[in-house]
Formats: sequence, structure tokens, C-alpha cells
Amino acid sequence: MKNILVTGGCGFIGSNFIRYLLDESDFTGRIVNADKLTYAGNPENLSGIAEKFPKRYEFVKADICDPDAMSEIFETYSIDAICHFAAESHVDRSIAEPDAFIKTNITGTFNLLEMARRYKDHIMLFHHVSTDEVYGTLGADGFFTEDTPYSPSSPYSASKAASDHLVRAYHKTYSIPVTLSNCSNNYGPYQFPEKLIPLMILNALEEEPLPVYGDGRNIRDWLYVKDHCKAVWTIMKEGRRGETYNIGGRCEMYNIDVVRMICDLLGQIKPGGKSGRHLITFVKDRPGHDLRYAIDFSKLEKELGWTPAESFETGMKKTIQWYLDNPGWISRVKSGEYLSWIERHYDQ
Ligand code: NAD
Ligand code: TYD
Repeated sequence: MKNILVTGGCGFIGSNFIRYLLDESDFTGRIVNADKLTYAGNPENLSGIAEKFPKRYEFVKADICDPDAMSEIFETYSIDAICHFAAESHVDRSIAEPDAFIKTNITGTFNLLEMARRYKDHIMLFHHVSTDEVYGTLGADGFFTEDTPYSPSSPYSASKAASDHLVRAYHKTYSIPVTLSNCSNNYGPYQFPEKLIPLMILNALEEEPLPVYGDGRNIRDWLYVKDHCKAVWTIMKEGRRGETYNIGGRCEMYNIDVVRMICDLLGQIKPGGKSGRHLITFVKDRPGHDLRYAIDFSKLEKELGWTPAESFETGMKKTIQWYLDNPGWISRVKSGEYLSWIERHYDQ
């Protein structure tokens, strides 16, 4: 793989992946980052990268749903592999306004698969990044395996499920070399503060209420973003083509315990800090709220030797420290200044 197209590289996981691949992995080729720069795409997530890797990094502002724009990228940069992160990714937004989820997650993925079909002679791999939410919810016991039947609950997870099926169909029908990964909830640097962990950190820092849905007894399995990036790269290099690999953090937590832990760690780490537990506010539950996610990633562990390096405590300390160290990033995200920057640079 010499010229990898990363879609959605200005988002949370995509930007961590690009940093990891260029700066810390054994990859020696070039990355082309195609991102539409929605509210979730922030060029600042990759600050310093274009300067540090002028010959190995290109950014193109483009919509994955636009066939002409994608075709131009495949031609111009001789793309030989795709790592597909671009998506609308937030469950609550999908409940309020599903439209963009159907367009980007389903039609956008279809469009990229068509490109892989058109340029099949050059394409070594199409890696599709997906979620454990396609499997629906677990009860108190058990784990999702790669064979768990799909049963998505939200427009977000249904759109991701559709995209997974398309990727597998393109492998079976057109022999496109694909791999898929379905991972649990990520956390870490550069996560947009609409998701649970950054939202709670930022609200606690501002002494604002910490809204916990329902009784806070829903369970998620937390995966530190760099562990996820390493897993994706391992699968891209060594995963069997046509296969799906689950990725998990071996870290199941009740939401309420996550929020309490953030409050307590902030109290310890922040100079002069105190626990923000008094800010916890139980609010109306999310419709269709999945009770529990837990991942069996033994296939990835046994076949490719990957295992998460971070415990929840070590990952959470790093995450909180990152937000404390980056007040400028926080204020530009919260004020929407990054969006005006994008408008000035790209949309005139
Ligand atoms: P994110 O919302 O932070 O970033 C998404 C990126 O995609 C943004 O940069 C956005 O501008 C870009 N994008 C959106 N629509 C686009 C379009 N039409 N064309 C081009 N770019 C577009 O998302 P994330 O949390 O980094 O998630 C990345 C991927 O990982 C997604 O596919 C998501 O489903 C999957 N995933 C995320 C998690 C998680 O916990 N965050 C867990 C499992 C799977
Ligand atoms: P989220 O970060 O939105 O990820 P996902 O819905 O994809 O799992 O939410 C994680 C969990 O936290 C989920 O059970 C919903 C809950 N949650 C809250 O309790 N309060 C909040 O403000 C948010 C955003 C999420």
C-alpha cells in the first residue's frame, strides 16, 4: 500500500489514525485525506501534519457522495488502498435528523465501493471502519462476536449496518479485496464534545450540568483511540481479505460510573480541582437506547496478535490531560470558530 485514501480524516478517529500512521507506524507511503468538513471535521485536528510530512500527506476537501470528486482523487493520486472512516457518527443526531446518515453512510460508502470497482486493477484493499452498534443490544450476559446477527436500533447503526452489507457484497460479487472492523466506543484526544466522555469533561470544567440519560445503567465497552488505530492498521496489513474483525477495549462500564470517574479524576488532576459529582443530572432517556455493548475480540487477538494497551484508567488520565492541555482547541470548537475558519479557507 503506497497511496492510501483515508476518508473522514479530519474527524476524531480519522485524525488520530493519520497521526499514528505517519508518525508512529511502519507505513512509508502517502496519505490522501478526503473530508467534507462537516461540523465534525476539524482541520485543526491535524495541525502540524502537512508541514511535517509535505511529501506524504495531502488534504482534499471533498464529499464521498460526489462521484466526480472521488474519481479525480483516485486518478490524481494513484490510490491503491482505502481506509474508510467518513460517516455521520452521532446516535442522537441520527434520531433527530436521519437524512445525512442515509446519504453519507450508505450512499457515500456505495460510491466509494464503485470507485474501488472502477479502479480494481490498482486497489489492494478497501478497509471499512464500522461499529459494534450494528449488532443491536446485549442483555446482562454475553458478547458480540463476528457471527452475531445484525439488529441495529438507531438510524445511525442501521445506516452503518447497510454499509457493512454493501462492503461484503462487493467482495463476494466483484472480488474487491476488503476487510471490515466493528469496534466499541472510542475515547481520547480530538473527540468532538457531543459524545459522552468529552462532553462530560468539558461540562465539568465549566461547572455545567452533566446530563446522564435514564438511570445511567447502560453499559458501553471503552476503547482508547490509539489502540483502535493500531488495530485498524494491523488488520489492513495482515487481516484476511473478506473478513470482519471485532475490536474492543475489554472495558465494560456503566455510564454513571464513567461520569463519576471523570469527575473524580478531574478533581485530582486539575490544579486546585474538586470533584464535580454534584453536577450529575439524570435526564430523559434516549429513544431506543441500547442497554449493553460488549465485544469478544478473540479473533483479532488470536489471528493477528492485537490486544488493547490502555486500561480505562490510563486511557482516561491521558484523555483528561489532553483536554486540560488544549484550551485553545476547546474554545475554538465550542465557539464554532473552526467552522468560520473552514468557510474562509474553502467555501468562498
Ligand atoms: P467523527 O464524526 O468524529 O468524524 C467523521 C468525519 O467524517 C468528519 O471529519 C466529517 O467531516 C467527515 N465526513 C462526514 N460526512 C462526510 C462526507 N459525506 N464526505 C466526506 N467526509 C465526511 O467520527 P469518528 O468518531 O471519528 O468515527 C469515524 C468512523 O468510526 C465512523 O465510520 C464511525 O461510524 C466509526 N466508529 C466510531 C466510533 C466512536 O466511538 N467514535 C465507534 C465505532 C465506530
Ligand atoms: P455516545 O457517546 O453518544 O455514544 P453511543 O451512543 O454511540 O454509544 O453515548 C455513550 C453512552 O452515554 C450512551 O449509552 C448514551 C449515554 N449518554 C448520556 O448518558 N449522556 C449524554 O449526554 C450522551 C451524549 C450520552
